[in-house]
Amino acid sequence: MSQDARTDQQLDPQQALVMLKLYIEWGADEAIEPTPQSRLGATLAPPPVPVRQPPPPAPVTPQLSEQPVAPFRTAPAPARALGPMDQAAVLSAREAARAAPDLAALKEALARFDGVSLSRTATNLVFADGNPAAKVMLVGEAPGADEDRLGLPFVGVSGQLLDRMMAAVGLDRTTFYITNVCFWRPPGNRKPTDLELAAQKPFVERHIELVAPRVLVLVGAAAAQGLLGTTEGITRLRGRWFQYRLGEDGPTIPALPIFHPAYLLRQPAQKRETWRDLLKLKEFGL
Ligand code: URA
Repeated sequence: MSQDARTDQQLDPQQALVMLKLYIEWGADEAIEPTPQSRLGATLAPPPVPVRQPPPPAPVTPQLSEQPVAPFRTAPAPARALGPMDQAAVLSAREAARAAPDLAALKEALARFDGVSLSRTATNLVFADGNPAAKVMLVGEAPGADEDRLGLPFVGVSGQLLDRMMAAVGLDRTTFYITNVCFWRPPGNRKPTDLELAAQKPFVERHIELVAPRVLVLVGAAAAQGLLGTTEGITRLRGRWFQYRLGEDGPTIPALPIFHPAYLLRQPAQKRETWRDLLKLKEFGL
């Protein structure tokens, strides 16, 4: 914030902190000057034109910090068909994933995998959390800023909501295992592209095969559609049991799609449906 803005518009520190947290949740991870800066040097650059300050942000009410807004997402990159380079990435992922005899080896193989450019922009590989011997395995979409910073899935605002919902049916990270269909944070929290997901899918499938849970919970559309091989929307998929096959010719296990907690933060009225969906896990005496 510029000196002028500071003197014109004194934010109280509490409000400033709330705004800062909101900006971070929306994906702002860089401080930018209020006036454009030339990177070309004084001789090439025209003199800076004074820029009017934007109007001050509307006052933030206390509810905003209590009810955090789900992370803002930038638009997904346009879809395109798998080219030869993409196919090579999928093949090399398949080979590396198949060769991993256990979870530690799978994590190492992912850390070495360079078939997805997300691994170059992310801070950390986000592999998994929870108990790998648990009967329930949750699979979400992709890490956000908090997950990227800590290297653990679902530790941000939506993860905390998911934990509370799981606690409501008697489960926590000692009794479930959790991962994503995308192991690195997409920049700006955009949705992972189909190509990025395709290149990581062999690792996700091997991950599920190695954990071999009794039940899979597919958190959100990307996990549900990707792992069930359907384009049906999450509103139609959620709360229904599907069969997911472990490995190429292994047994099938029940898979339950649910709404993503980031969606539930925007649509709290749907939380009740998700709680009902999660109660279905009780059918397995979990
Ligand atoms: N959303 C996800 O789908 N996964 C995470 O790890 C965090 C947020």
